[in-house]
Order: sequence, then structure tokens, then C-alpha cells
Amino acid sequence: MAEHVEVMLSEDEIGQRIRKIGERISKDYEGKSVHLICILKGASFFMCELAKRITVPVSIDFMSLSSYGSSTESAGVVSIKKDIEEPLDGRHVIVVEDIVDTGRTLKYLKELLKDRGAADVKLCALLDKPDRRVVDVEADYIGFKIPDEFVVGYGLDYDQRYRNLPYIGAVKFD
Ligand code: IMP
Ligand code: MG
Repeated sequence: MAEHVEVMLSEDEIGQRIRKIGERISKDYEGKSVHLICILKGASFFMCELAKRITVPVSIDFMSLSSYGSSTESAGVVSIKKDIEEPLDGRHVIVVEDIVDTGRTLKYLKELLKDRGAADVKLCALLDKPDRRVVDVEADYIGFKIPDEFVVGYGLDYDQRYRNLPYIGAVKFD
């Protein structure tokens, strides 16, 4: 099926918003350090930009999960494909996600990382599609609330394509 992508959020808008979130986090965690856990692959672009805007000490780790197959519909089950490498004991964790859709991924992660000994776990997502929520979970830091449309770019993919777009765009099926 052919498709095209329409710009929803420009590179500039995204950059400015990330700067703001970085300032907020830097204030909220004053006197502490934060441990960012980036959810691969989608959140990698966001995490890099965000980390650069945080002024308290930052450490990073990566995790890869699957809840989506290769289409635009969630499989509904979350499993770990690649686990974090650093211990979490006593750390102030912020999970960095590209988008909160059904909310299953973030809910699963919040409980898992708390159980593993983090001092606290907050959730930060570049995008939020509140209309799609299936489980009760709220991100603590959100870039943009968007309508229920399938989006790509800035790390997000459609069948592994479009991650490299410097903006967020809605996929339109022709
Ligand atoms: P959740 O567990 O349903 O909240 O799933 C979130 C994950 O689904 C995200 O990390 C994305 O990988 C994927 N996802 C959800 N909506 C979109 C979208 O519009 N475009 C690309 N990926 C999406
Ligand atoms: Mg993802």
C-alpha cells in the first residue's frame, strides 16, 4: 500500500519543547542525579536531545521491548528483547519513551523498574495519544498530546522506515 507523510510537528517545535522539558527535569531533580532509561529504538533520538538539555548529572541505559508487531496495531503483550545493563538500586529513574499509546508498555515498565530497586520511577514521553489509552497510566513529562493518528519520524517508525525524519509526521494511506 502506498502512503505519504504529512508534517504534524516541525523540528523547531520539537526542539523547543525538549528544551522546556529539560529545564523542568533539571529543576525537579535539583541536588540529585537522574538515570535515563531509553526505550529502543523509537526513543533514541528524543533521549539524546533531552539528555543534552538536563543540567543535573545524567547517566543513561537502554532497554528494548516489543508490544507492536510490524503493522500499526498493538499486539497487546509486552516482552523484553534487550535488558538494561546498570543496577537500579536507589537511582532516580526516568523512563524515556517515544509515544504513549495504549499505555501498556509504560505501565509494565513502571512496575518492573520499581520492583528492581529504583528509588523512584518517572515517565517521560515525547508524544501522547490519550484517546488510545487502554490501561490507566500517565506520563510525568509529556512533549505533545496528539490526536489518534499513526505518526512517524524523530525515531518513530512504520515498518522500520521513517525513523530518520527530523520532524513528526502523520502517515496518510493513499
Ligand atoms: P503502548 O504500549 O501501546 O503504549 O505502545 C507504545 C509503543 O507503540 C511505542 O513505543 C511505539 O513503539 C509504538 N507506537 C504507538 N503508536 C505509534 C505511532 O503512532 N507510530 C509509531 N509507533 C507507535
Ligand atoms: Mg517504542
